[in-house]
Amino acid sequence: MKQKFLGYQCSLCKTEFKPGEVTYTCPKDGGNLDIIYDYSSLQQDLSPETILSSQEESLWRYLPLLPVDQVHGRGTPLQAAGWTPIFSPPELREQLGLQSLWVKDESRNPTASFKDRASAVVVARAQEIGAEVVVTASTGNAGAALAGMAAAVGQKAVIFAPHTAPPAKIAQLLIYGAQVLLVNGNYDQAFDLSILAANEFGWYCRNTGYNPFTLEGKKTAALEIWECLINRKSFGRPLSVFVSVGDGNIISSLHKGFKDLQALGWLDKMPRIFGVQAEGSAAVANAFSAGTEDINPIAADTLADSISVDLPRDGVRAVRAASQTGGAYLTVSDVEILTAIADLGRVGIFAEPAGAAAYAGLHRALKQNIIGSDDSVLVFNTGSGLKDVNAAMQAVAPAVIIDPTLSAVEQALDLSI
Ligand SMILES: Cc1ncc(COP(=O)(O)O)c(C=O)c1O
Ligand SMILES: [Zn+2]
Repeated sequence: MKQKFLGYQCSLCKTEFKPGEVTYTCPKDGGNLDIIYDYSSLQQDLSPETILSSQEESLWRYLPLLPVDQVHGRGTPLQAAGWTPIFSPPELREQLGLQSLWVKDESRNPTASFKDRASAVVVARAQEIGAEVVVTASTGNAGAALAGMAAAVGQKAVIFAPHTAPPAKIAQLLIYGAQVLLVNGNYDQAFDLSILAANEFGWYCRNTGYNPFTLEGKKTAALEIWECLINRKSFGRPLSVFVSVGDGNIISSLHKGFKDLQALGWLDKMPRIFGVQAEGSAAVANAFSAGTEDINPIAADTLADSISVDLPRDGVRAVRAASQTGGAYLTVSDVEILTAIADLGRVGIFAEPAGAAAYAGLHRALKQNIIGSDDSVLVFNTGSGLKDVNAAMQAVAPAVIIDPTLSAVEQALDLSI
């Protein structure tokens, strides 16, 4: 196959760069870079059937549409990222009055969040360019994903995370053997510091909304939705996709995945993309409702730590993901997020707060008549509830403690029935 990865295009000024010319953001204006492909030669070499018949049960089935040359980490957790299940729980459909509802469960990834998609592809890239150390700033999940994927192939990783990150996420970083630096500050401060350190020590930086390869890895979720759902069903109206938003890289990646498919002529109707933010961390939603792409930083405050971001690093593309697809932004309170954790739990899906936020957003969209009962909806759970057990315990009543006697059991059952 001919070279498919042509280079980069700045999402702000549209300047194009060759693959070796830039690494992270646009040197002119700091805009996020989109990776561009030679779609006409891809169209000649590839057909949907090439992908649909792949035996690879991971994101690597989309290798022809990714900017790396080969599958890295065969037989390791790195090879296992992606290809997550799509559930359709009847109870949730009934509760919401929706005919068609799916939940794509990203907690099934090797390190239990959506971020494995990005980290798998960034680590593959790091191996191809011979990077010795990969670094990232993270609220926890991106770091755990990088640490896990790096460990899988013996790559050195350094992680900067806020010291307030949930203990389970910090445990993952340590167990995967990364160099962990807990910053006495918030995610935004960890972000800025990680870039200073990367420049100083010559490390390859994975940061979300900074390294263009993260978005390419994450776009595979859109390719999976196309392959497993859109390609198999006929929808009257386009599919509506709900996802939570912090930096805005996941939502932008879904948009890019669908745009790639349209460029190849494999997707007729662009899905509508809905971003969900916590009320206390709503910089992108604010810009969307003001009808602007200018992102004003806020002082983030929400229990959903993964989407607690002062200045979203991929805000412009995140606004466009909704505005250019007929989608919208919704904001949800921490209480609504906790309710969503419990609702998803009752159908067997255990989400961390940022994962459940998307489902809370769907509730809001139904209340506000943005979504109707005839819409087909897919909601992402982006991360496992095991990542933040403290938050989970706030979503449910505590368990009863009883004496080890049958009468105590009877008494307890009487009380709770
Ligand atoms: C579980 C989870 N959901 C959602 C997000 C939001 O992704 P993004 O920051 O790309 O908007 C993150 C990011 O850390 C996350 O870990
Ligand atoms: Zn630019």
